Amino acid sequence: MLITSPITPAKIGPLLGRVYEAAVSGHGVYADRYAETCLRAELGLDEASNLWGPLFYSETREPVFWARNIWLSPFRLEFDSIGAAASALRGIQRNWHATVFTHWRRAALIQSRLPSMSFKRHSFPWLLPDASVGAWALLDEHTLLASARCSSPFPGGVIEFEEDKNGPPSRAYLKLWEALVRCRVWPHAGERCLDAGASPGGWTWALACLGADVIAVDRALLAEQVACMPGVRFMQHNAFSLQPEDIGPIDWLFCDVICYPDRLYEWLEKWLAAGLCGNFVCTIKTQSADTRQNFGDTLRRFASLGGQIVHLYHNKHELTWLKVRQRPDE
Ligand SMILES: C[S@@+](CC[C@H](N)C(=O)[O-])C[C@H]1O[C@@H](n2cnc3c(N)ncnc32)[C@H](O)[C@@H]1O
Repeated sequence: MLITSPITPAKIGPLLGRVYEAAVSGHGVYADRYAETCLRAELGLDEASNLWGPLFYSETREPVFWARNIWLSPFRLEFDSIGAAASALRGIQRNWHATVFTHWRRAALIQSRLPSMSFKRHSFPWLLPDASVGAWALLDEHTLLASARCSSPFPGGVIEFEEDKNGPPSRAYLKLWEALVRCRVWPHAGERCLDAGASPGGWTWALACLGADVIAVDRALLAEQVACMPGVRFMQHNAFSLQPEDIGPIDWLFCDVICYPDRLYEWLEKWLAAGLCGNFVCTIKTQSADTRQNFGDTLRRFASLGGQIVHLYHNKHELTWLKVRQRPDE
């Protein structure tokens, strides 16, 4: 297929598979290597099969969860000039994010000819615009790889927030913010939330700031400054021994308990069967290489619950299961 441009034509060749972008920067080398190792395992690729910098290509039809961003409809674009490359991308859509691992200067020149995007830190809540962000990367001087559609709504799968250094007692609230922005929905004032594994209280703090009524459950105590926030009720309890009927109808179930994923799955099955909650944001923790090896089956069970499983930018050795009523992004 030829894309016509006022400069010179660029030639597009669609790819059958998908491009999987590993998390290579952000939360420390160790955390990133962990996600990359998990991604390689999911794709059945060994250490030697890194194709293009942080980008893996696979035609697998199996679900893949550990990528920071998945390029859903990738194509190769052959071009003669920087202008032709930029013109071809601009002809497809407005927003493009570059992953650069070779020909840095040339990549910067192409990106400079694309419409600019804001990379400022966001305050929360922030309503994510609907416009999609594509991804592209130079492979060599005259070839690039690109995809207009990606799994993450954030450029390159990355979102940074203006952090609150005083209010929350932990930085865990950042992954909750990211999950809610990604879903484009969050608790309204007065909505009833259960926060399981709440201590020291980052998530509860974030929910109480939205004006939600929060039942915070943990075996350990909540930080005092969170426990006394309006709308917060703390229960020192094993979250998993609380049945849905003990809590009653809630709008949101949040869970960040450190536990074996199967324990969480069994508890969630009860909540889904009870029909007492509409929205779920739960962290699925991985604990060791052994767990990781057997993790595929566990994740398939979570996937069968509906919603989506994602590796958030703010996730470390964990994934996040999201099931919300309104406007899921994928
Ligand atoms: C990662 S921390 C949660 C951080 C919290 N979301 C925040 O924002 O500060 C995990 C928590 O799970 C709690 N936990 C572990 N097992 C639990 C259980 N069975 N029931 C309730 N809480 C549990 C731990 O006490 C710990 O506070």
